[in-house]
Amino acid sequence: MISLGIEGTAHTLGVGIVSEEGVLSNVTDSYCSDGGIHPREAADHHANVIGSVMEKSFLESGIKKGDIDVISFSMGPGLGPCLRIVASAARSLSINLNVPVIGVNHCVAHVEIGRFTTGAKDPVTLYVSGGNTQILAYAEGKYRVFGETLDVGIGNMQDTFGRELGIGFPCGKQIDELASKGKNYLQLPYTIKGMDFSFSGLLTESIRKLKTNPQEDVVFSLMETAYSLVVEASERAMSHTEKNELLLTGGVASSRRLKEMCNTMCEERGASLFVPQPSLCRDNGAMIAYQGLLEHKNGKRMNIEDTIVKQKWRTDEVDVNWI
Ligand code: FE2
Repeated sequence: MISLGIEGTAHTLGVGIVSEEGVLSNVTDSYCSDGGIHPREAADHHANVIGSVMEKSFLESGIKKGDIDVISFSMGPGLGPCLRIVASAARSLSINLNVPVIGVNHCVAHVEIGRFTTGAKDPVTLYVSGGNTQILAYAEGKYRVFGETLDVGIGNMQDTFGRELGIGFPCGKQIDELASKGKNYLQLPYTIKGMDFSFSGLLTESIRKLKTNPQEDVVFSLMETAYSLVVEASERAMSHTEKNELLLTGGVASSRRLKEMCNTMCEERGASLFVPQPSLCRDNGAMIAYQGLLEHKNGKRMNIEDTIVKQKWRTDEVDVNWI
């Protein structure tokens, strides 16, 4: 079975093609701006590039349009205008090729492509990206949210702080480099409530500290604090669920320091850390294609009229019948 998936929840438009054996192609094109994501502009970007991205994806895979068995797309959660562009494209492709269409949950797709490509079996997942920061684990038919941000995603916080420093969006890589040069840890708010965490106070105080402290030290302290919050909550989720695997994914999973901290925590617990390759950690079409394949194989069918996008579709609203 061959599945084509279209991703477009935020700034990245991606088209991936996968078979049951592996990823055949995974092409992305991201919208960039100096002022964060403007949803309408990002949607226009997606509409402008989707044709060429799809063409490249077919070329890379060596697959012909007639070989596709199912079309899937990111139905949520995400930015409404962006979601509607990919939903329209998926519906028309499905009608055109006369194959089924499946709308999948973006966060669940991150977990499943991770399990598929790293060999993790039953992990606690730390999903860290611009818009999302969640700790997920499978329990009784659903991916339960064991902890999550109460305000912004960790990547979003990095980007907002990066703008204060004059760094263009997205700025995770440069923030990580700056942080590695910091030496002195400055006291910052460490906000964890139960298993949930908050970044807004941390962000505000870090911006204030920029007035009187070296930039590198502030960035270092900000990222040490933010990463510690999510690693602490992940460890508690692993302890509670008695799972011994951690899957680190999402765009922020490319952070060297975050990987290091996750690794230390896993080593101390005798657990294993799994991190998918970067192109499968950040938002991409292959994960959507794989999720569609998985759900189709397990009996999921959707009528076109049921493919309305869900901007606030929560991870724990998805019935998981494939585990
Ligand atoms: Fe994502």
